[in-house]
Amino acid sequence: MIKYVIHGGKPLTGTVEISGAKNAALPILAATVLADGPCRVENIPSISDVSICTDILYNLGADVTVVDRHTLMIDPTRVNSFTVPSDLARSMRASYYFIGSLLGRMGQAKMTTPGGCDFGVRPIDQHIKGFEMLGAKWSMDRGMLCFSADSLVGGHVYLDVVSVGATINVMLAAVKARGLTVIENAAREPHIVDLANFLNTIGADIMGAGTDVIKIRGVSYLPGGSYSIIPDQIEAGTYMVAAAATKGDVTLKNVIPKHLESITAKLQEMGVEVEEGDECIRVRYVGELQKANVKTQPHPGFPTDMQPQITTLLCLAKGTSLVTENVFDNRFKYVDELRRMGANITVDGRVAVVEGVGGFQGAPVKAVDLRAGAAMLIAGVVATDRTEIEDIHHIERGYENVLEKFRKLGADIKRIDVPDDMRLAKAL
Ligand code: EPZ
Repeated sequence: MIKYVIHGGKPLTGTVEISGAKNAALPILAATVLADGPCRVENIPSISDVSICTDILYNLGADVTVVDRHTLMIDPTRVNSFTVPSDLARSMRASYYFIGSLLGRMGQAKMTTPGGCDFGVRPIDQHIKGFEMLGAKWSMDRGMLCFSADSLVGGHVYLDVVSVGATINVMLAAVKARGLTVIENAAREPHIVDLANFLNTIGADIMGAGTDVIKIRGVSYLPGGSYSIIPDQIEAGTYMVAAAATKGDVTLKNVIPKHLESITAKLQEMGVEVEEGDECIRVRYVGELQKANVKTQPHPGFPTDMQPQITTLLCLAKGTSLVTENVFDNRFKYVDELRRMGANITVDGRVAVVEGVGGFQGAPVKAVDLRAGAAMLIAGVVATDRTEIEDIHHIERGYENVLEKFRKLGADIKRIDVPDDMRLAKAL
């Protein structure tokens, strides 16, 4: 079993290069299925979710050439299947973006229900509502979601919930639908804008991405093109919090400060110094952290994907803070792991009451999901003794070169493989 071993207690200092955005790369790679010519995609993060995406593209019949570690050339002209392999579909939630792009290209799509982080119920009713509004029919056949459309026709989709995934999937299905599609109550995340920019670069006609009304005028041909993915807002936020938590001084390179505004504002409210540059941001601990209340919201509110990380930081602040998770039903599962390291947090439904405890004790903990794993990393580099993190595959799904990046900032962190028989022997 692979785990991280961390000996913390030292301030993180220096610079860290932020990678391409996972939540932009995944829909953009799925969107290449819509193209009628090759697409060159740059600044792709080298993470396991991207590998799953490329495996799905291979299985659908696309030609995928690895130009370099962060650049892929994808030629979808020989895509000959509309079924997403179940083992790949179940290993991440973003696999469901292939429904929108396969429907758009072939008028058919088939896949099992997607996997992904477990935050309680994660329905796809809004995706289905959008596909039906464009003329698609769907059925469930022995656990497989089957979608088909003789022809997709633009429609008016008013999402009942602000949903990143549904906004993306409807946009993908609408790109080649006949006529105009309007998505109202659309999500406004930076990765929605990035996807729309990519699609327009390869020949689509999309307006309004980044607002709550997105208009897609269907086109019949997408010649393809080149595109570079935006930096990862959540990876950047994670390192910003880690810098503050360890009383450090870290400069992040390759960021878009505007995408980080809600995180910057919250850190400044807590007494952290944050200095913005053109494509960089410097985070410096300058004195005792102050308590703060956090309410997660769709963009431009405070991102739910930063909730475990900011909660970890609030454990180090003076006083009592409230964290309200407004996006998912149950995104506090990691709190039990933080408590093992000395956190004093009480969770009641969507609200966590966080008492400032001033520090963490090292302990063996688990990464219960991707961002919870990031929170364990932060607590581990703060704790002055030894922390072990299991189930680190969650972390490596979404953070490129996470060990190297933390080590470069001064963290004492190792990735070790404990053979199962040794674990058994120790247990006995
Ligand atoms: C995306 O998930 C991200 N995943 C998540 O990031 C992120 O937490 C989330 O957006 C919110 O920003 C990817 O981009 C791969 P939603 P998604 O649809 O699309 C409800 C990470 O850490 N809902 O915006 O699944 C849903 O239950 C991951 O990188 C419906 O009710 O999120 C939730 O309460 C974790 N019906 C709310 O909407 C639907 O049909 C927002 O979910 C769809 C969603």
